[in-house]
Amino acid sequence: MRVVRVTDETSRRAALREAGELLRAGRLVAFPTETVYGLGANALDARAVRRIYDAKGRPSLNPLIVHVASTQAARALAHDWTASAEALAQAFWPGPVTIVVRKRGVIPDIVTAGGDTVGLRVPAHPIALAMLDEARVPVAAPSANLSTQVSPTTAQHVADGLGERVDLILDGGPTTVGIESTVVDATGAVPRILRPGMIAREAIARVAGAAEAAVLPVADAAPRSPGLLGRHYSPRARLCLVERDALPRVREEQGPMPDERVGAMLLAPSAGTFHEQVLMPAEPDAYARVLYATLHAMDDARCDLVLVERPPATTEWAAIIDRLERAAT
Ligand code: TXA
Ligand code: MG
Repeated sequence: MRVVRVTDETSRRAALREAGELLRAGRLVAFPTETVYGLGANALDARAVRRIYDAKGRPSLNPLIVHVASTQAARALAHDWTASAEALAQAFWPGPVTIVVRKRGVIPDIVTAGGDTVGLRVPAHPIALAMLDEARVPVAAPSANLSTQVSPTTAQHVADGLGERVDLILDGGPTTVGIESTVVDATGAVPRILRPGMIAREAIARVAGAAEAAVLPVADAAPRSPGLLGRHYSPRARLCLVERDALPRVREEQGPMPDERVGAMLLAPSAGTFHEQVLMPAEPDAYARVLYATLHAMDDARCDLVLVERPPATTEWAAIIDRLERAAT
């Protein structure tokens, strides 16, 4: 595995060319997007895509997102590019929204876990877009972490988690959005949110010309987005999502655990003594940007327990609360 920094123009060009060659040869390339780093393979090559599942230890029932450089390239992979898909693409691409539509036969079943729909995304990141141009094939890419672990927001996180399982890592520095894309089912007239993200449901509803409640996940949405099932986004440490008032009591209830094994992620300073006390940003975009790096840091600090102050239950915080709750299960 090699990590290539793609900051200056010359190294960038050589690294992108190599990434394109590796992808066309069926190898795995990790790359930055605006959300998290992806673990990419040629989406049209079933054997290459199999390598993604093997490298991550990912259950084969969990479908992958296919990344393309343009809306035009996305349309070419859709069997039925709906009006709602077009509206979402126009409003949010390139950007952190994945649009689920019926797939064309060129996409192997392994990409979609046997399903007849595919999640498509045009990422808003210059390195990702340049890599997709260079590859000249659509790139299937889940987050570049071992299955169930915290998604990577730096090249170092990818190297620590996947090591030699990946052939090349393009290092584009820390990602800016920080949590995974909003996944939206656009197979019908009204889009449905399958996984919340920093593009919030108001924005999705506005584009769809629908009421906010109409785009909410329906009760049967979970089986349609298998990645939402069960334990996910989990650090090694046990994570407890706690109301601010309850922090001292919950700390107390943990019993005689030494302070240095207990971390805290707070929205305002607290008198409590914690080994790793991190003051998190009080604004959701800034919070999301540092969330995963903070969880990785808590593991590096060998915390056994991390108490996380519960953010306010407003829609701007919904995706962050979703990830925290999954990490806490
Ligand atoms: O921001 C992101 O979405 C990142 C970057 C790399 O693009 N990717 C990512 O991929 O988070 P992954 O595989 O970790 O999560 C993909 C999610 C899963 O919850 C999966 O179940 C859902 O998208 N998904 C993918 N294809 C789907 C489909 N056809 N129907 C329903 N859900 C789908
Ligand atoms: Mg993931």
